[in-house]
Amino acid sequence: MIRTKMKSHNCGELNLSNVGEEVTLSGWASTIRDLGGILFVELRDRSGFFQIVTNPQINPDVHKIMEKVRSEYVITVKGKVTRRPEETYNEKYPTGQVEMYPESIEILSTSKVLPFVLDDENVSEDVRLKYRYLDIRRESMLKNLKLRHEICQAARSYLNGEEFMEVETPILIKTTPEGARDYLVPSRVQEGKFYALPQSPQIFKQLLMVGGIERYYQIAKCFRDEDLRADRQPEFTQIDLEMSFVEQDDVIKTVEGLIKATFKAAGVEVNPPFTRITWQEAMDRFGSDKPDTRFGLELFDIGDIILQSNFEIVKKTLENGGIVRGIRIPGGAKYSRKDIDDITKLAVSFGAKALANIIYNEDGTAKSPVLKFVTEEQAKAIQERAQAEAGDIIFFVADKPKLVYDIMGRLRLHFGKSLNLIDESKHNLLWVVDFPMFEWSDEENRFMAMHHPFTSPCIEDLDKLKAGDLGNVKSIAYDIVYNGTELGGGSVRIHSSEVQSEIFKALGLTQEEAEEKFGFMVNALQYGTPPHAGLAIGLDRLVALLCRTESIRDVIAFPKNSGAKCLMSDAPGEASLQQLRELHLKSTAHTK
Ligand code: AMO
Ligand code: AMP
Repeated sequence: MIRTKMKSHNCGELNLSNVGEEVTLSGWASTIRDLGGILFVELRDRSGFFQIVTNPQINPDVHKIMEKVRSEYVITVKGKVTRRPEETYNEKYPTGQVEMYPESIEILSTSKVLPFVLDDENVSEDVRLKYRYLDIRRESMLKNLKLRHEICQAARSYLNGEEFMEVETPILIKTTPEGARDYLVPSRVQEGKFYALPQSPQIFKQLLMVGGIERYYQIAKCFRDEDLRADRQPEFTQIDLEMSFVEQDDVIKTVEGLIKATFKAAGVEVNPPFTRITWQEAMDRFGSDKPDTRFGLELFDIGDIILQSNFEIVKKTLENGGIVRGIRIPGGAKYSRKDIDDITKLAVSFGAKALANIIYNEDGTAKSPVLKFVTEEQAKAIQERAQAEAGDIIFFVADKPKLVYDIMGRLRLHFGKSLNLIDESKHNLLWVVDFPMFEWSDEENRFMAMHHPFTSPCIEDLDKLKAGDLGNVKSIAYDIVYNGTELGGGSVRIHSSEVQSEIFKALGLTQEEAEEKFGFMVNALQYGTPPHAGLAIGLDRLVALLCRTESIRDVIAFPKNSGAKCLMSDAPGEASLQQLRELHLKSTAHTK
């Protein structure tokens, strides 16, 4: 590192081996203690802490200046590193055996009293976000940002080694079909026209493959105007990659290497190949396409048994295309009436119309409002299917498949957490493959692309696509899941313009709409497109999980809050009438 006049060393790197060396240190006065007229200052920089001592008897001039220093002043000190008296060694810091009685000190900058105490963990997030530049001084934020940097470097280094090329793609674009709302930017020079900010570099990375780049990556900013949660931000970062002349297995292998390298940067050893399960299996066993496999409580199907019974209300649901899935809670027979009511309410809050239960008592009897609908034999078959033992309870729901999976998947997670079944020391990585190509949207009353419309359908399902049997078309798409979070997703792409047009048609886009939105893309596919595939990892999620923090806001230097606002700068702000006029816009905000 190039040393500067103001800083010959970092505070945190000095130890007994530096004793006697003349050094210049600069940083923030973090704590200042006056012990019987002697001042002890913890000087802090990015690397750590170093103790500065001034004594009116030993260095009166310097002491006089030090008396003016307050918390968070920025100072420079120069002097010799000395060994502390052994009885004053501070084991808390790596520099705890050394200190400095400076020969000179300069105050570079003063500081107002901070609005919060830096190491107070109880400060509200709103306050921390408002003063994010101070929040970043905290050790935990600094640690998170450092790890983020190291993970990025590990990703770059791995991908460079695999002959990937980093190419930047534009931010002012037309639109990307990732399924969220676009952020729009009005054009000044083209009246009434708008750019969209990219939801991902998807289209451009595919066009780079048409352009012959063969292996592309980018640590790319993406923008999605969607409802925010702890693991979602309106602008976030992807480690985005695309490869030519590859199949699903090649991308999976490449990404497994990438995951191994990035996890290693965080000190976590993982060993590919990772388990693969199909989307259908993930839904059936865990009720989720991002299953947390660190605990059991796998779901089971009792549809065939119910169909033989007199449980008419559920039978009707099954006959109308519904499914039924159950979950067994070991030891749950001891739940009180109120416990069961609370669990039922929880299921209802997840969208369930009802949640049935059967209690298997310790004495071998069973208790349930639904037993009146099933024979003894059927009840026994249900118990066997659930692998329920005396002392257990089972819950089940019947409804449309999507709803049942969602409710049961969420209930499973609830029990996993509330019963402390999750082994936090595990690093479970798995691939979910064979996603359906389309997903029915009740809201839009049409089929939508489950990933995005450039995903290749499975070759063997092309006939179903042509016949309009869209619900049964699978795609060559894959997600990488880590401890129950979707880290990344990708697919093999369509490289034939005919199939691409077929997909647009299936999605209900007219020829004109497809032409208007993605014409350039379909056109490009006609000029010698190599088979290609890729994937993108959510960098923020990856870092947050490796930092073991719940919220991706903790690993982003300047994040937005849940209202998509930057509390520090107060963005988004208002535009002046002049600006609006130039952009050919009229705001209706004040008339609402
Ligand atoms: P996808 O939409 O699955 O795929 O996104 C890839 C990964 O990006 C992360 N992610 C987010 N992170 C934070 N905030 C958000 N709002 C957000 N949205 C997504 C997730 C997700 O797994 N172009 C395709 C990839 C491809 O097919 O190559 C894409 O963007 O971790
Ligand atoms: P009753 O209302 O007493 O006739 O009993 C109906 C039973 O069936 C209750 O225990 C409900 O919880 C259960 N039930 C009704 N609809 C469903 C459903 N869709 N899924 C699961 N259980 C149901």
